[in-house]
Amino acid sequence: MDKLLIRGGNRLSGEITVSGAKNAALPILCAGLLTADTVQLSNVPNLQDVTTILRLLRQMGLQAEQDGDKVTLNGSAIDKLEAPYEMVKTMRASILVLGPLLARFGEARVSLPGGCAIGSRPVDQHIKGLQAMGAEVTIEAGYIHAKAKKLKGTRIVTDMITVTGTENLLMAATLAEGETILENAAREPEVTDLANLLVAMGAKIEGIGTDRLVIQGVESLHGASHAVIADRIETATFMCAVATVGGDVTLRNVRTDTLDVAFDKLREAGAILTSGDDWIRVQMASRPKAVSFRTTEYPGFPTDMQAQFMAMNCVAEGSSRVIETIFENRFMHVQEMNRLGAAITIEGHTAIINGVDKLVGAPVMATDLRASASLVIAALAAEGETLIDRIYHLDRGYDRMEVKLSAVGADIQRVK
Ligand code: EPU
Repeated sequence: MDKLLIRGGNRLSGEITVSGAKNAALPILCAGLLTADTVQLSNVPNLQDVTTILRLLRQMGLQAEQDGDKVTLNGSAIDKLEAPYEMVKTMRASILVLGPLLARFGEARVSLPGGCAIGSRPVDQHIKGLQAMGAEVTIEAGYIHAKAKKLKGTRIVTDMITVTGTENLLMAATLAEGETILENAAREPEVTDLANLLVAMGAKIEGIGTDRLVIQGVESLHGASHAVIADRIETATFMCAVATVGGDVTLRNVRTDTLDVAFDKLREAGAILTSGDDWIRVQMASRPKAVSFRTTEYPGFPTDMQAQFMAMNCVAEGSSRVIETIFENRFMHVQEMNRLGAAITIEGHTAIINGVDKLVGAPVMATDLRASASLVIAALAAEGETLIDRIYHLDRGYDRMEVKLSAVGADIQRVK
């Protein structure tokens, strides 16, 4: 199993090119199931999760050709309407095939995702929405079995804001009969990116970017070309690394309009940020100042950046409070950070971080994707060597992170 060996203490300087967003690419690749035509995608990140979803889609009969960041999909020969447990258990986003398969083929069998390191993460809202659209859904032998000759448009109010739930129902609604209204819809830029592709494929969607999506179903969708939006979480992760260890880095191929809260918090921490159309320069000359925040849905502070900002707070001047409101168990990195000398205590959904003068390298273990990224940041700040185990979590969602970081001066290497 690969590990990362990091010797901390180096400042970061130079340029990093950000990849396409994982959480936009995954639903967008599933949207290829909605049409018999060809969908051409670019800026698709090179990640384990993308490899996994492509394997699943190919198993269903979707043709997928990958050439660097370009992926060409053709859904004219889909013959298997199932996502097996073996695939869903490795990647929960596999649930995103449910809506498209049901809408286009009238049937889908998708394994129920099991437990997850960061929380229980049920998919009841996906099911509730599809049932409201007329689907007959049964749960048998661990599988969601959904059937509907033709989905029917209706008004759906989800109990909470769910990102993949909104995406699944949005894709289903594009081919439903009549009008679907999705209230309490997620407004994440990744949902918007998916909606923009669907419109390019002939879908009729109003309210894109808002919490009320109104979809007029169409008979069929056609092919389209689309460039996946830049990854705001990858961008913020690198910005946070610079703010933690100091330096001067310019990030290219970014979407500055999706990063308001990260900008605010990094400025509060003392970073100097300048930006243009598709670039951001982060300069940090001093020790960061502690910043408190509470995770919420977009446009609030993303849960997917919580751990990385906590790493910065570990070495910051002052103390901070971080409240996690989206997932019930997303503090798995805390014990690992404390092994590096951090001073973090947890009370329920709140972490209290007292900034320390220094962290000291130690062997640590990654527990999920963003926790892994936070341990990389903490290790870059720590004195001496840190060996991070189980970095397959990192490879799921970051495109060659160690290559990008070493190009800006980090002492980081992958060891087999
Ligand atoms: N929830 C339910 N029932 C549902 C759906 C969600 O109770 O049917 C709850 C969840 O348990 C959670 C909250 O609602 O407490 C929000 O979950 P959401 O459905 O929004 O999460 P998700 O769609 O499963 C996506 C991202 C996550 C990201 C969350 C929150 C993808 C593929 N995944 O997950 O990304 O943390 O939204 O923004 O888009 C990551 O990239 O590291 C990651 C975990």
